[in-house]
Amino acid sequence: MEFVCSKCGKRESTRTRQAACSCGGLWKLDFQAPKFDESLIDRDTWSLFRYRAFLPLEDDAWKQVTLGEGMTPIIPLDGDVMLKLDYLMPTLSYKDRGAAVLIAHCKSIGVDAVLQDSSGNAGNSVAAYCGRAGIRCDIYVPEGTSPKKIDMIQAHGAAIHVIEGSRDHCADVCRAAVREGGRYYASHVYNPFFYEGTKTYIYETYEQLHRIPEYLFVPLGNGTLFLGVIKALEELLAGGAISRMPQLVAIQSERCAPFAKAVEQHAAQPARVQPQPTLAEGIAIGVPMRGAEILEYIYRYHVQMIQVPEEGILEARAALARQGIYCEHTTAANYAAYQHYRRLHGPISDCLITMCGAGLKSDH
Ligand SMILES: Cc1ncc(COP(=O)(O)O)c(C=O)c1O
Ligand SMILES: [Zn+2]
Repeated sequence: MEFVCSKCGKRESTRTRQAACSCGGLWKLDFQAPKFDESLIDRDTWSLFRYRAFLPLEDDAWKQVTLGEGMTPIIPLDGDVMLKLDYLMPTLSYKDRGAAVLIAHCKSIGVDAVLQDSSGNAGNSVAAYCGRAGIRCDIYVPEGTSPKKIDMIQAHGAAIHVIEGSRDHCADVCRAAVREGGRYYASHVYNPFFYEGTKTYIYETYEQLHRIPEYLFVPLGNGTLFLGVIKALEELLAGGAISRMPQLVAIQSERCAPFAKAVEQHAAQPARVQPQPTLAEGIAIGVPMRGAEILEYIYRYHVQMIQVPEEGILEARAALARQGIYCEHTTAANYAAYQHYRRLHGPISDCLITMCGAGLKSDH
């Protein structure tokens, strides 16, 4: 299998240890999933690896890595909204979808040490799967990251580096360490294997509902779920399982909205923003690395943008908790975004909202 540079088109084996192309372009994966057919789902495997026919796995390394991730319930919240409970994962966030596939790839190609930067959840996931796979792991998080997330990362045996300053600066510090060489950049943003894992959010939804709902509300920071959702929908379309794209609604914080601002100006690159502190720490990404690629999808599929009002987040979290759903602030923002969307555009029905991070992780 090969990576292709998104800037210069250079091809490179996916066995490479290079985090990106030498020209600076990020890798895309040259992988064509087979035409969608439900008979290709391995119903005897009770994890997201039941969809492995549609995933770029080189061998059976996933069997040594899996923690039984995926298979999360979809429940009705009310007559208009369904929630997919992706916080019911081994490390309590949807990032396990991506990390399971990425670390299975690392295991397949014989990686023995990785580095990664994260606002917390992706670090939790990569640390857990590296622990499972016997791969040494260093995780960089920005100051202010929830202490619970830091405790979890360390409990899985990873070394933690808490970096002063913003999430974007934390990524810069980690990438400088990557450039020193010797360790693999297991980045959920750089490495396309991660997006292949997040595709399963949609495969699972389709298997559960036998259809895709009309509206999909998806958080958008670096876009790791967003990209997986788009790719999987494209695959379902190509396979004839669905006849058109649903209406995607991409969620940003009003305090950090480089994509929403770019769309207002019909720009091809994310807007320059000065991120302000927000409870929705997971989507507070000022400089999304795959910005142009994500904007192309936004325009191609008429994705709508919604900016979550900060003051709606705690209220949304409390409203969900009263119904038994205890999610983290960034995830409460997904529901607050839906409520705000209704205020702006009127009622909508047949919506699926992801509950993708657990409340116990953001009690700070
Ligand atoms: C709970 C939660 N929701 C949403 C996101 C946003 O994901 P992305 O930055 O990949 O768009 C994150 C990322 O850390 C997260 O932890
Ligand atoms: Zn290149």
